[in-house]
Amino acid sequence: MPSIRNKLGAAATGTLLTLGLALAPTAPAAAAADDTLRSAARGTGVRIGTAIDMTALAEDATYREIAGREFNTVTPENVMKWEAVEPTRGTYNWAPADQLVDFARSHGQKVRGHTLVWHSQNPSWLTEDAFTPAQLRRLLRQHILDEVGHFRGRIWAWDVANEVFNEDGTPRDTIWLRALGPGYIADAFRWAHQADPKAKLFLNDYNVEWLSPKSDAYYNLIIQLRRQGVPVHGFGMQGHLALQYGLPTTVLENVQRFDALGVQTAFTEVDIRMQLPADPIKVAAQAEGFGLLLRACLLVRNCVSYTVWGFTDKYSWVPGVFQGEGSATPYTEDYQPKPAYYTLRDTLRLAS
Ligand code: G3I
Repeated sequence: MPSIRNKLGAAATGTLLTLGLALAPTAPAAAAADDTLRSAARGTGVRIGTAIDMTALAEDATYREIAGREFNTVTPENVMKWEAVEPTRGTYNWAPADQLVDFARSHGQKVRGHTLVWHSQNPSWLTEDAFTPAQLRRLLRQHILDEVGHFRGRIWAWDVANEVFNEDGTPRDTIWLRALGPGYIADAFRWAHQADPKAKLFLNDYNVEWLSPKSDAYYNLIIQLRRQGVPVHGFGMQGHLALQYGLPTTVLENVQRFDALGVQTAFTEVDIRMQLPADPIKVAAQAEGFGLLLRACLLVRNCVSYTVWGFTDKYSWVPGVFQGEGSATPYTEDYQPKPAYYTLRDTLRLAS
């Protein structure tokens, strides 16, 4: 994909590199009609995306309007997961995911498919029944062929294998690892490629934005898979950060080493939570965090997208999981853009 980023002059690159809190968020009094994240992203080679909550999309007109207006790629937050598409064995429910794909098409958005093999949000019939390894392998193969086949030609990139390593870089203990051994990952990519040869196929995980044993494990896995001829095309860094743990200082170095392997990279689920209540310092630090990841993406050749895991606090998964934490997205619950929103937009504008 031709990208203006490849042609960034030293001055523009230097500006992006040194840009930090110095970038004062600008909140124009009256936004022009096309003053959006997606118009700012035009010409950067990076798509700007959001996870979509299908209930909110159906019931909340403001949510729907912003989702269509601001982003040019979308990811289903839940409706393509195995438990959602095949709640009863052999009976598929594609309707909510089809609705998302239709919404994306009518708004000129690409879709990131999420996710094919994972340890979480699997249907209970799959996890509670005692299947033999051979049966589990057949079930996983069929699931991937059916789901990727159903959406063939309509999905830009799939998160094929999600969260397969522990923090120390060892393989995560899942039903797949136990029954099938580590080769299940290569198999999953081969089956996905068979079902849709044009889709870009990604590994995806959290806590891999910086240099660490976990990101090392992905780096080594990608080298190994590519040596074996496995069709792995990209590495997704989720980007679920928390202010109290600090921002990842080695993110650029990390993205650069994957870039040098020749695979695509993407930030796939960015949100930055904080201990509540929010205050101006936390809000400014959050904006810096959103900008830090985006700058890393813009500064390498093959980083193709930057997706936020929900754009409004109104529907964020964070408060339900981390007690006392929240305010993790670029818009407030009542849809006011935060400094993080303006930092994203200004950073994109600088790169375009
Ligand atoms: O659909 C049921 C609904 O029928 C039921 O009434 C309700 C009662 O709790 O639960 C609903 O399911 C919830 C589901 O989201 C859909 O809304 C689950 O309880 C809830 O646990 C589930 O949470 C999702 C979580 O993944 C599950 O692990 C979050 O919305 C979603 O944001 C989150 O996303 C993950 C990514 O897929 C992978 N990376 C981490 C990220 C954050 O955890």
